[in-house]
Amino acid sequence: MSTLYARDEAAVAGIEKLRFFPLEVVSGHGSTLVDPAGRELLDLSATWTASGLGHGHPAIVEAVTRAVRDAPGSGGLSAVHPDSVGLAEDLLALVPGDGERRVYLGHAGSDANDVALRACRHATGRRTVLAFEHSYHGGVGVAMGVSGVHVDAGAPPDPDAVFLPYPNPFRPVGDSVEADVTACLELAEGHLAGGSIACLIVEPILSDGGLIVPPDGFLARLHGLCRRHGVPMICDEVKMGLGRPGTLHAFDHDGITPDIVTFGKVLGGGLPLSAAVGPAHILDNPPAAALLTTAGNPVCTAAGRAVLATIVGEQLPERAAAIGALLADGLRGLAGSPGAERIGDIRGRGLAIGVELVDPDSGERDSRLAGQVVYRAWELGAIVYYVGGNVLEITPPLVLTEAEAGRAVEILGAAIADAAAGKVNAEEVARYAGW
Ligand SMILES: Cc1ncc(COP(=O)(O)O)c(C=O)c1O
Repeated sequence: MSTLYARDEAAVAGIEKLRFFPLEVVSGHGSTLVDPAGRELLDLSATWTASGLGHGHPAIVEAVTRAVRDAPGSGGLSAVHPDSVGLAEDLLALVPGDGERRVYLGHAGSDANDVALRACRHATGRRTVLAFEHSYHGGVGVAMGVSGVHVDAGAPPDPDAVFLPYPNPFRPVGDSVEADVTACLELAEGHLAGGSIACLIVEPILSDGGLIVPPDGFLARLHGLCRRHGVPMICDEVKMGLGRPGTLHAFDHDGITPDIVTFGKVLGGGLPLSAAVGPAHILDNPPAAALLTTAGNPVCTAAGRAVLATIVGEQLPERAAAIGALLADGLRGLAGSPGAERIGDIRGRGLAIGVELVDPDSGERDSRLAGQVVYRAWELGAIVYYVGGNVLEITPPLVLTEAEAGRAVEILGAAIADAAAGKVNAEEVARYAGW
């Protein structure tokens, strides 16, 4: 272990770490990260999508440099400045919605979801939150308590959360995924009709739960039920939104207009920034109930405006659709090569691709292999993590080039082949438990 990694172990709290291999990075450019020895690594995670525009994007560098040089204070709590107001206006223009709306500006997907959930409880006077098993909405407060992933890991669920099963086309629990959709919607309707639901929160693609893409129309039917019963739907676009799925919003796929939409990660272009966009009557009240001193600060909001302008101006959703299709086709093309029998499913939209690793005989999830594959990929020069225990989550920067997509396929194919052939040191991998 290097000195830097050892110093990290001795100094930084384990509670905030999710490690898969001893990654050290000192700089980055585009879709490349550079380690202290100068080795270049192809970034297929984009820091869990937070570096969605890649590293050192000129538009962000320019915006942040300008903003930090003569920053008008450091937060929107008790003052307004052009970039906080401008970012809120940009979001109102980009996010569909009805009636009078407002934008909450925060620091992370976690607080955007937490605030949206609390505001729904306050506005409706009801407590119960409908959420999904294996979902992830954040690491604090109510957002954490309604996250199935945390609850699976032993965190106490919010006492007023109800978890619905998210339909998984690759692993239906009933006779078919259609049957699962029907069962889920019936369950949801039973709760929605009961009159105690404050809101429903849903990921349009279940990301940390295993990059599960629900059947077409699922979200629309769910939204229809929420509308019928007057229950606000929060669509959590923190990880999958803003161009990654090949559309600006992931919910565009189902043609819906959610009541509240939350953003984070790529919105800050690597800086801490999040937002919740929704009805004024929900997000205005109670006043001063969601105060973070540096929320809406000039530097992060300038970055956010640059990110949105770049996503739209450089047509990154279209680009994600095209490069994502190439990458997914390349991965499908691995069929028949050594180790490919361990790939149970390849799915996704745009530059959000999941590769599910399985035991070829039983079809069971192979979590051990997933740990070894991501470790081997790092050794071979690519950064990729897994979600849902056994699913490689490929979410590179939206600026990934065609040549980089080809290189990604080569490295991932080799990593799967090597891990399947037992060439990865299992003892070494076990030191990095992942999750
Ligand atoms: C869908 C989703 N929502 C919310 C969050 C929380 O975001 P953050 O870690 O920035 O607080 C995440 C993080 O992974 C996420 O994937």
